[in-house]
Amino acid sequence: MEIVIASTPEDAARIVADRFEQAIAAAGEKGITLGLATGSSPVATYQELIRRHQAGGLSFAHARAFLLDEYVGLPRAHEQSYYRFIRDQFTAHVDIDDAGVLSPNGEAADPVAAAAAYDAAIGEAGGVDLQILGIGSNGHIGFNEPTSSLSSRTRVKTLTRRTVEDNARFFDTVDQVPVHVITQGLGTIGEARRIVLIATGEGKADAVAAMVEGALSAFCPASSLQLHPAVTVVLDEAAASKLENADYYRFIQEERPRLTR
Ligand code: F6R
Repeated sequence: MEIVIASTPEDAARIVADRFEQAIAAAGEKGITLGLATGSSPVATYQELIRRHQAGGLSFAHARAFLLDEYVGLPRAHEQSYYRFIRDQFTAHVDIDDAGVLSPNGEAADPVAAAAAYDAAIGEAGGVDLQILGIGSNGHIGFNEPTSSLSSRTRVKTLTRRTVEDNARFFDTVDQVPVHVITQGLGTIGEARRIVLIATGEGKADAVAAMVEGALSAFCPASSLQLHPAVTVVLDEAAASKLENADYYRFIQEERPRLTR
């Protein structure tokens, strides 16, 4: 894992936006498939990408996107559906073709079949080139809650009470948070060619330490990223505050320019 410790959440967002911009430029007209997360973690990155697009330097015209997850039972038009969230927060403000922004169908009569169909659609599209992730305070990525199989595929999951309470801030009351979701599995996410995870704030520090320095374990689903050959974890100081080897990661960052000179 590459660990990048930024001074502020704003710097962290700019670093992640840089990775997006580099990947989009490298893909050129061949196009790129992005994997998009919702929740608060990537919002500042999306704002930075929108700013760069509006400044004229960054185009998503050759991009398509797959969302990580969706609540079961929320209508797409609901302002907390992830279908709507990603449009409101990001894709409606850039030049990506809306028809190419796909998400699991949380309204399907058969969510189990819808999850399997979504997993197949990602494969048929050739997979995800660059996936952005956040991390839950319990170590989940996507909605792969603790004890999720490390090789799981897109499927229906039941949220933990902790995740429901974490997400209640987006709803009027905790009872409005759906408890079932469709989420890409850890195996599905692990097939993305490159992954960038962003975490900011002290509330993520324990989960980040478990992901980066803890054991590979289904109890910390994000630790499955230890198996991936191209993961960058971008943190602010608060999210990095429980890493034992933080000084080593800073040393690597300082030394990296010498390698590439
Ligand atoms: C969202 C997602 C989740 C969030 C995580 C962190 O699509 O897949 O894993 O990234 O719950 O949420 P925030 O960023 O709101 O703290």
